[in-house]
Amino acid sequence: MNFQLTEEHLAVQAAARDFAQNELLPGVIERDTKEIFPAEQIKKMGELGFMGMMVDPKYNGGGMDTISYVLAMEEISKIDASASVCMSVNNSLVCWGLDKYGTEAQKEKYLTRLATGEIIGAFCLSEPEAGSDATSQRTTAEDKGDHYLINGTKNWITNGNSASVYLVIAHTDKEKGHKGINAFIVEKDMEGFTVGKKEEKMGIRGSDTHSLMFQDVKVPKENRIGEDGFGFNFAMATLNGGRIGIASQALGIASGAYELALKYSKERKAFGKEISQHQGIAFKLADMATQIEAARLLCLKAAWLKDTKQDFSQAGAMAKLYASQVAMDTTVEAVQVHGGYGYVKEYHVERLMRDAKITQIYEGTSEIQKIVISRSILK
Ligand code: CAA
Repeated sequence: MNFQLTEEHLAVQAAARDFAQNELLPGVIERDTKEIFPAEQIKKMGELGFMGMMVDPKYNGGGMDTISYVLAMEEISKIDASASVCMSVNNSLVCWGLDKYGTEAQKEKYLTRLATGEIIGAFCLSEPEAGSDATSQRTTAEDKGDHYLINGTKNWITNGNSASVYLVIAHTDKEKGHKGINAFIVEKDMEGFTVGKKEEKMGIRGSDTHSLMFQDVKVPKENRIGEDGFGFNFAMATLNGGRIGIASQALGIASGAYELALKYSKERKAFGKEISQHQGIAFKLADMATQIEAARLLCLKAAWLKDTKQDFSQAGAMAKLYASQVAMDTTVEAVQVHGGYGYVKEYHVERLMRDAKITQIYEGTSEIQKIVISRSILK
């Protein structure tokens, strides 16, 4: 077993770290406060190859492995989780899904632009009454011969307004249960499609989360992904990979908060010495460092399984379950280490604490991860 990162991995990690420090850190507090989507920064991330990292170079992707993706996600998420959720959805749910299951024509038309960040994508599964229970959705796609008519509402969609391309999951035949579900590529300017309300959120406030409305949206048949009835399996397969992305986001939020707490603890003095020299603080740092290392290993293991074409669904769910808990615990402790300063925006840790919570909710709640893991170990 070799835990050594390659030269290429280290280069990707360093590039992501530099970008996060130089381009994301300035303005991150303002974007959070005013709920500003990091459009300029995302464009630059596309130019640097961070928006389609694992896509085949034939379709303008980076042709990188999932380990590189985990490393880049961690670095970006240390600084700006709003930018990293956009990156995660575009890479794991949209680009990967199209690269793996799209037709040649779909890849030419959409993937080549999504992979460079020229346009970004959204993944539309959740509904007002179907979040965790993904088969219970109400959006319909009626088969009209050469096209489908889509009707319904999607909720809490990341990149809801900034996307140009939406992968939409809808029921074609309710009688068939999950085998009657399809996935479609919907373009923003298709008639009958409207971007609804923007959600005002506790965390990841720079990310644009919207509801979406579909009223008789005519989608050509060639925009269906995979065979008729493949939509649910498509969603499950993409979410398996998406969980590695969100696990890495959670890891980054945790390690970002830890690095800030470590630095602060060496600067701040109390009772005649640096607070890091007080065991009460030193033990917190030891716990944080240990848990973050374990979360990182779970993320990298899941990525390695995916890269070596092995089943990674259980490992991805374990990584997300654990890393999101570590993100929550670490950020709360990082605020505590900072004392009163931790409670004000300028010191960044309060934002990371608010951002951490969503990692236990989206792309499957912690309870969903436990369903995936327990089914896998009990089968
Ligand atoms: N990987 C691959 N296939 C899977 C799978 C997995 N993890 N889980 C289920 N499947 C497949 C099964 O094999 C089965 O396929 P076949 O019939 O072809 O054999 C099919 O899916 C149905 O399986 P189940 O009967 O087990 O399905 P279920 O209804 O019990 O649900 C679930 C399983 C895991 C709970 C699923 O509903 C689920 O993952 N829910 C969570 C949805 C979710 O993550 N939503 C988040 C929205 S996206 C988002 O948040 C993006 C964003 O904006 C950041």
